[in-house]
Amino acid sequence: MSGVDEVTAATAATSLADAADETAAEQVVTPWDVSGGADGKIDYLKLVNDFGCQVIDQSLIERIETVTGCKAHPFLRRGMFFAHRELDQIVSAYEKGEKFYLYTGRGPSSESLHLGHLIPFHFTKWLQEAFKVPLVIQLTDDEKFLWKDLSLDDARRLARENAKDIVACGFDPRRTFIFSDVNYMCTPFYVNTLKIAKCVTFNQARGIFGFAGESNIGQIGFPPTQAAPAFPDCFPHLFGTDKKSLRCLIPCAIDQDPYFRMTRDAAPRIGGHKPALVESRFFPALKGESGKMSASDPTSAIYVTDTPKQIKDKVNKYAFSGGRETLEEHRELGGNLDVDIPWKWLNFFLDDDDELRAIGDAFASGAMSSGEIKAKLIACLSPMIATHQENRAKVTEATVDQFFSTAPRDFDAMFGALSGDAPAPPREGEAVSFQGGEHLVARGAPERAAAAAAGDAAAGDAPLSKNALKKIQKEKEIAEKKAKKAAEKAAAKAAAQ
Ligand code: TYM
Repeated sequence: MSGVDEVTAATAATSLADAADETAAEQVVTPWDVSGGADGKIDYLKLVNDFGCQVIDQSLIERIETVTGCKAHPFLRRGMFFAHRELDQIVSAYEKGEKFYLYTGRGPSSESLHLGHLIPFHFTKWLQEAFKVPLVIQLTDDEKFLWKDLSLDDARRLARENAKDIVACGFDPRRTFIFSDVNYMCTPFYVNTLKIAKCVTFNQARGIFGFAGESNIGQIGFPPTQAAPAFPDCFPHLFGTDKKSLRCLIPCAIDQDPYFRMTRDAAPRIGGHKPALVESRFFPALKGESGKMSASDPTSAIYVTDTPKQIKDKVNKYAFSGGRETLEEHRELGGNLDVDIPWKWLNFFLDDDDELRAIGDAFASGAMSSGEIKAKLIACLSPMIATHQENRAKVTEATVDQFFSTAPRDFDAMFGALSGDAPAPPREGEAVSFQGGEHLVARGAPERAAAAAAGDAAAGDAPLSKNALKKIQKEKEIAEKKAKKAAEKAAAKAAAQ
């Protein structure tokens, strides 16, 4: 997709935010707020149109299976990861032998993850193993400090705690780097952040993210920090210093799309590849499908720390049921799969396609009651969460240090098959650096050519194109219209008093 198309999509997002102001019935999807439309549901096709991404079709799934030799993950087969930006181009490049890396992240705002947070990490692990590529995971402790009522110390502590849950998903330290923004903000990372920041006007940021006069200026300045890791030269200890050496693929839920729409617009202006995206729908809240699961509402979420009793009680008490009022009615009319949360959750986590189909048929026909489908869900979740807890118990502080370490790696060794076991974490007292630097460069990694470096020095300083100027003019007009409307509203209110 060209830059102009993404600009159009960003303007569409502006209108979406405007419309949301005027009618509460309009769905809202931003990295910080998700709520459904008039019927409480998210219209994903509308989102794809508004954001300007594409739906993943069967032929793309088949190409992924062919090129990796792996059966598609259930999240891909069942349409949980349903949208993309240039995933097809990543696959084409990979077919030709080109390398790429994965980038995903977590905003550490709570002690433990809920099941919704596991979705991108489980899928990313599958992508990493299927394509045999390196992965970087950003922990945005800075973002959560700026947005939440959280001290910076707590945000940093939560970053390490959340990292343990991420490691428990099974990533291999030989090709995975986890970093907290506050620890890792080194020169190459900051250079990219600055260059991206210079490409984005306040009007554009307001259009894309809905910033308002009350937003603190740290929030307004944050998006380039989430954008920068999409460029490989942020990580010289992994990928060397050449910005175009590797393409990047970002798995996430669709709420993160605004960050990367902005990133893709800036990419050509700072001399990088546009990152590709593979985006999921939301794992719904326990109480019904009206947005994404919230970490702050325990009755809407199951956490990776919940005990078997808590899982059972929450599912039985809060899971929204598509069953009928009475068992008799249920047997006669059948259950409603469109709204039944146990059914929707089983679609995410029950691996066996045949068993899933049988459960769906039985519930829809009325042969399976709502209590029985809830029992199926409890039986599916309990061992999965128990395994997660066992894995997490094995993650020590030293293991976290190993994943956070900025010691230069061997570039080629991060791609292709790995043999043997991962090395042990550092011993107590062994020096580990968490701070990157220009001098820490991976062995055998691509280096920036002198000529390209000279061109890159000007990146981010390019004069504004005609389209960019047009866009700024359009945004100015929208902002003026909004201000005029607000003034009229205020005057009418004052007159009425
Ligand atoms: P955060 O911590 O809100 O969410 C972490 C990841 O989980 C996804 N997610 C969900 N997926 C499915 N169903 C849900 N109910 C659900 N809730 C959250 C999010 O889309 C995200 O992928 N700013 C980001 C952290 C970040 C990041 C990134 C995410 C930094 N760099 C790159 C993705 C890619 C955040 O606060 O995510």
